Amino acid sequence: MSTPTYALNDGTTLPAIGFGTYPLKGEDGTAAITGALDAGYRLLDTAVNYENEAEVGEALRRSEVPRGEVRIQTKIPGRHHGYDDALASIRTSLETLGVDRIDVQLIHWPNPSVGKFVEAWKALVTAQQDGLVTTIGVSNFTAEHLDRIIAETGVTPAVNQIELHPYFPQVDMRKTNADLGIRTEAWSPMGKRQAPFDAAPVADAARAHEVTPAQVILRWHHQLGSLPLPKSGTPERQGANLDIFGFELSDAEMAAITGLGRRDGRLFGGDPNTHEEM
Ligand SMILES: NC(=O)c1ccc[n+]([C@@H]2O[C@H](COP(=O)([O-])OP(=O)(O)OC[C@H]3O[C@@H](n4cnc5c(N)ncnc54)[C@H](OP(=O)(O)O)[C@@H]3O)[C@@H](O)[C@H]2O)c1
Repeated sequence: MSTPTYALNDGTTLPAIGFGTYPLKGEDGTAAITGALDAGYRLLDTAVNYENEAEVGEALRRSEVPRGEVRIQTKIPGRHHGYDDALASIRTSLETLGVDRIDVQLIHWPNPSVGKFVEAWKALVTAQQDGLVTTIGVSNFTAEHLDRIIAETGVTPAVNQIELHPYFPQVDMRKTNADLGIRTEAWSPMGKRQAPFDAAPVADAARAHEVTPAQVILRWHHQLGSLPLPKSGTPERQGANLDIFGFELSDAEMAAITGLGRRDGRLFGGDPNTHEEM
């Protein structure tokens, strides 16, 4: 079954599911990312701080999939938030990836204590105007961070990539993004090592629909309107994680999975107001 797409607020589209590349590195990493392209993923999520942009670029060249069919998404780190630093960072990413245009350029974390995320956003706007990048967005931005960059530039991000999984369903942040016309992307979409594969709402739905618990969680994202970025180094899981468009969870199943949410459900306490990632 082919992957549906989302229309973004800048007139471009993204596939409804992407591939998370962290921490895939080296020859094994390149092989795994090439495998993901062969399995059918058309959106690859990387970042300067994953130190694997070279592997992503190499996988793109190795794969039979035409460049024009793939969206490469990367992120500038907190240490590059100054306007000139951010533009230099994007140029370095272009070189490391070995592409002439980045499809989706994000700011990785707001790092509010650094106080330069507005500058970084202005640099992304310039990079888009100059044709270095196609789509611009952010990651881990709260409502306050979004309001500031929009107020100061008049430019609304196309996507906001946030921590989102059954233990942290981000009801308010999803609504904030939707109200602003921003597509929510989900990092650690299954909850990584804490994935609630055995939790009753997930396990029951998996049995009822004859799918895996991972497919249930990824389908839950899809029905929420969230674009999940699952990572797997395993070919079978890569393929299975894409295969979520042939069944539908009921409203009760959706509500039960969302009901697994906890107030402190973040995986490692990554509150964007306090978490610093340079
Ligand atoms: N913006 C940010 O701040 C941020 C932060 C964290 C992550 N991310 C992005 O989000 C992506 C995904 O996040 P993540 O890797 O933390 O979490 P995840 O995708 O929720 O979980 C990945 C883990 O689940 C396992 N797995 C994958 N498919 C499975 C399946 N079908 N059944 C059982 N286990 C399965 C993987 O193991 P195997 O590889 O062995 O299959 C891996 O250990 C990252 O790669 C990165 O691109 C972004």
